[in-house]
Amino acid sequence: MLFKRQKKSNVLNGENPPLRHLGIIMDGNGRWATKRGLMREAGHRSGAEAFKRVVEHCIDRDIALVTVYAFSTENWKRPQSEVEGIIRLLVEYLEEGIAGGREKNSRVRFIGDRSRFSPEVQALMREAEEKSAHYPHSLNVALNYGGRADVVQAVNKLIAEGKREVSEEDISNALYTTGQPDPDLIIRTGGEMRLSNFLTWQSAYSELWFTPKLWPDITGEDIDEALAFYATRQRRFGDVAPKK
Ligand code: IPE
Ligand code: IPE
Ligand code: MG
Repeated sequence: MLFKRQKKSNVLNGENPPLRHLGIIMDGNGRWATKRGLMREAGHRSGAEAFKRVVEHCIDRDIALVTVYAFSTENWKRPQSEVEGIIRLLVEYLEEGIAGGREKNSRVRFIGDRSRFSPEVQALMREAEEKSAHYPHSLNVALNYGGRADVVQAVNKLIAEGKREVSEEDISNALYTTGQPDPDLIIRTGGEMRLSNFLTWQSAYSELWFTPKLWPDITGEDIDEALAFYATRQRRFGDVAPKK
């Protein structure tokens, strides 16, 4: 229900078409730190600040749903110290969210396989979800998330329900993003032009915007530039005329 509603019109969206779900691949933390002679962990810390800044900006722009890619199923390959540093930042973010106090906030949901995190971290994730459930804007944080793993868990869920044949709709409804619209626009920072296993099923018709800027340097103005790009897109979904 929440996602069907389009509140006041957003000037940056123009006429065509309303943006209901923004995906963000927050990339470039490590390079940002290395360029400054710092440890990669310092880049993740600075990236966490950019994340809070951008989420607030998206609330200001009245974007109903944002999904950020924070940690992929492949990121466990990194040195243990880096992974632990990222999890430490996650715990700080969760504790901050649970304590409240942030003026602008979103309803947070974690997407991905959380069973790989410690029971303590999983409990904090649940608490952060519960405590933020009343906020009108939504935020999915993709953690231990992979687009392929998402499709596999969806299909396994359907098999467990006794399904012997599945439709596209069945799969969409069994994904971590169940009930949410597909991302209209996906932003990737850090210069790579790939999706790296982000919302693989859901991104079939997403518009894509890339910037060489590294994630910790991203500002609200960059997000506005991406939104302005989106406003110029003609989305045809295979048809001959744009869909409004
Ligand atoms: C993105 O930044 C954050 C995560 C993947 C956790 P990176 O850490 O990938 O930064 P680069 O790409 O190495 O610069
Ligand atoms: C994608 O970035 C994952 C996140 C931003 C969380 P990566 O840095 O892991 O992607 P690759 O390895 O460059 O494709
Ligand atoms: Mg990277």
